[in-house]
Amino acid sequence: MVQSEVYPVPPGFAAQAHIDAAAYERLYRWSIEDPDGFWQKEAAFLDWIKPFTEVSDTSFDVNDFRVRWFADGTLNGSVNCIDRHLAEKADKPAVFWESDMPGESRVVTWGELADKVNRLANVLKSLGVGKGDVVAIYLPVIPEVMVAMMATIRIGAVHTVVFSGFSAESLENRIADSKAKVLITADEGFRGGRISPLKRNADDAVRNQPSIEHVIVVRRSGAEVPFTPGRDLWYDEATDAAEPWCEPVEVGAEDPLFILYTSGSTGKPKGLVHTTAGYLVHAGTSWRIIFDWHEGDVFWSTADVGWVTAHSYKLYGPLLNGATTVMFEGVPSWPDASRWWSIIEKHGVNIFYTAPTALRSLMREGEAPVRKHDLSSLRVLGSVGEPINPEAWRWFHSVIGGGRCPIVDNYWQTETGAVTLVPIPGAIPNKPGMAAKPYFGIRPEVVSPEGVTLEGPADGNMCFRGSWPGQARTILHDHERFLKTYFAPFPGRFFSGDGVTRDEDGYYRIAGRVDDVINVSGHRLGTVELESAIASHPAVAESAVVGYNHDVKGQGVFAYVTLKADAAETDELRREITRWVRARISPIASPDIIQWAPALPKNRAGKILRRILLKIANNDFSDFGDTSTLADAAVVEDIVARRKAEL
Ligand code: PRX
Repeated sequence: MVQSEVYPVPPGFAAQAHIDAAAYERLYRWSIEDPDGFWQKEAAFLDWIKPFTEVSDTSFDVNDFRVRWFADGTLNGSVNCIDRHLAEKADKPAVFWESDMPGESRVVTWGELADKVNRLANVLKSLGVGKGDVVAIYLPVIPEVMVAMMATIRIGAVHTVVFSGFSAESLENRIADSKAKVLITADEGFRGGRISPLKRNADDAVRNQPSIEHVIVVRRSGAEVPFTPGRDLWYDEATDAAEPWCEPVEVGAEDPLFILYTSGSTGKPKGLVHTTAGYLVHAGTSWRIIFDWHEGDVFWSTADVGWVTAHSYKLYGPLLNGATTVMFEGVPSWPDASRWWSIIEKHGVNIFYTAPTALRSLMREGEAPVRKHDLSSLRVLGSVGEPINPEAWRWFHSVIGGGRCPIVDNYWQTETGAVTLVPIPGAIPNKPGMAAKPYFGIRPEVVSPEGVTLEGPADGNMCFRGSWPGQARTILHDHERFLKTYFAPFPGRFFSGDGVTRDEDGYYRIAGRVDDVINVSGHRLGTVELESAIASHPAVAESAVVGYNHDVKGQGVFAYVTLKADAAETDELRREITRWVRARISPIASPDIIQWAPALPKNRAGKILRRILLKIANNDFSDFGDTSTLADAAVVEDIVARRKAEL
């Protein structure tokens, strides 16, 4: 195995850090030998209404599955995220918000946040939303998304945030599955100078969804939008008229906090259910440790609020710790490639957390846009969402971090709730591209395809043994699928769906998905979901999607499409299919390449041989391995010839 470069903990960093190397060793050992003792101490981070008496009751045996943490305790999430900071911080900034439009910004203090949360909670209550009801949130990156989430959990209701870049159809599917009672959206959203018609999408999404009784509309652009009296309310009018205090509702530790949809290896996105106390303990304590946040630091995560990264480490983590965060509505490339760097300078950001795909696209612009700005406030950098290639890692480290900031490459998933692998910055030297070492209480295993746990340096499937508080408890309405996907493949362990390598120093490198999920610009997309969207086009007979290596996106969407007999293979049809997918799922799901294929390579049982399609998509035509199972070998030759002709 090649020894990769090592970047030691920067001089002086460990001395001021929450966790240094010795503390990591000691606490990690404790967390594994006595998880209940460790997590009981961590749970003191929260303010409880009624303390718990039992720490955990867990089993990953599919026939006796249980994951319960702090189960008889009670609390309220919004009190932990907001009320408890007010005595000291009512007038201090909770959020520095930067509009898509340069020059337009807002500062939201903790006191203002509390006021809006209480008022919106009262509005929701007056609309009949109560404990356990679902509130769907379809908002851009504006402070109101924070208000909406906090107001929802203040009354014991459950939020489901839907990425505002998703189409009306994707939103509708999530509403249909979650049976949300209220939808909170905005008139329009802005990104990169472009307007997205959120209210119009919302109207389309709820038209046939009787569970939605009301739609609350935030005025973002002020444009005239359709308004259905009786059903729709303006956010500003309703909150202005509401009382400024709402009694927080006491909920059980294991009551649901939120549902978040993510793509899996079947066509239907799954609604992962996170519960209150375990999630808040894991997200809140780990956020402070892995970013080495100290009182007064300004933190910025560039993630969109629709993803788990933002849930745990842009919203809940900072809120639980009373931290000041930057929220930016726009994109890094608009109006020019120095936008992010200007925001870091303006707000003196100390901790900056982003995704490799964005770094790769910014790298292409060279160093000039960076050099225009003073980034000396930066102390810690973070990367998440996909493996970071060493080249992007080094650029991030030297050009953005000035060679002095550790990079916290944290690996986790919607399912895990918060971090699982991470180089804690004061404790673990960096190796570019490696998510390094387990977080406290996490027991990683590298497992062979046969289910054997491998020791020492090894390649295999990324699994975790033993429960941790922040893990998702189930898939909404589909506990069977939850057990089958995560706990049945390798009995006794949680299976992540990722491949992994462990080196001779016990460092982990995530190799990417081993299932039918692709990771496009850090967004998880199910190939089956993409295939069904493409195949629903009237001209299409069948399609197969694979993720191919893409310089900026990590993986790109490569779609093989077989047309119906009467359809012609034209560029116009390619564009139409692309538009079709954008409208059905989202622009993030747009096929990068559509390859016409008169037939798809299948075995005699009719199963598509994706292994071959993946090689062709990566322009590797050399050796297709065992092709004896192919029902018709000529199909492959034909696709290869067509692909070569297009290169
Ligand atoms: O493949 C892994 C990749 O993102 C997947 C999880 O996606 P999602 O649930 O959307 O959560 C995103 C971030 C918390 C994983 O299965 N992934 C996430 N972080 C990393 C990563 N791959 C490599 N390195 C990471 N740091």
